[in-house]
Amino acid sequence: MTASTKINLNKIKDLPTLPDIFRELLDVLQDENSTFNDLARVIKHDQSLVEKILRVANSPYFGIPGNVRSIEQAIMLLGYDLVKGLCLGTSIFKLLGKHSRKSVNNLWKHSNEVAVIGSKISEHVADVEASEVFVAGLLHDIGRVVLLTIDRDRYLQIIDSDDLIIQELDYFGIHHPSIGAEFLKRAFLPEPLIYAVRYHHTPSKADSYKKVVAVVSFAEALSRNFFPKFEDDGYWTEEHDAIMLELDLTEEKLSNIREQSTEDLSQMSSILSEL
Ligand SMILES: [Fe+2]
Ligand SMILES: [Fe+2]
Repeated sequence: MTASTKINLNKIKDLPTLPDIFRELLDVLQDENSTFNDLARVIKHDQSLVEKILRVANSPYFGIPGNVRSIEQAIMLLGYDLVKGLCLGTSIFKLLGKHSRKSVNNLWKHSNEVAVIGSKISEHVADVEASEVFVAGLLHDIGRVVLLTIDRDRYLQIIDSDDLIIQELDYFGIHHPSIGAEFLKRAFLPEPLIYAVRYHHTPSKADSYKKVVAVVSFAEALSRNFFPKFEDDGYWTEEHDAIMLELDLTEEKLSNIREQSTEDLSQMSSILSEL
């Protein structure tokens, strides 16, 4: 593949290794007219997805512990978009897991961290939904998984590069925030989520949904500070200094966010971290 290769997103749907469940899930997500019941029907085909969603719904983090017994109830409680995000995140990370398990597991872990840090930040910011930030955090680097699907060997060579965005542009002709946003757009995920993914490394460029974008981008930057790992891409820039001031995220608040995130991640790890 050369730098000039145009990435065809439709190709992702036709990858030979794609499990049926993922294909069906994409069909449901890409159909504007699909309903709550269509999503529940597809989820029920995959027992591990059913278990994961029920465990999330019953975790003290989101729901009423022990009371959610069906996927329909879980969708009602967690919301259609959160369940869509969870399904998409889990399935696409899992899809790649078998070929590059260590890197993909760490990428998934990093995504969990950004989700949890982001939802903790949102508690200090008015007019931002914690669950929306949580899904955006889970999916923020989905573009990296898409690029990994397209050319695994090449992507693994640049995965920990400090100028990842430049390297991606150079080789794939598109960087992970853009291809991730395009991918989610085709799955009819909500606009604020798509903005958060598209601008998570360049928050000041977002012309709408600025607060959600800022919170997700700030969570990404904090993730490297709190939980550094080979696969994280939480570069801190001047934009993050500005967000810190704008959202009034004092040192004291940051240390609370760090403490709570560490605690929540240890609580959530048995539910989310495993693929
Ligand atoms: Fe990223
Ligand atoms: Fe990231």
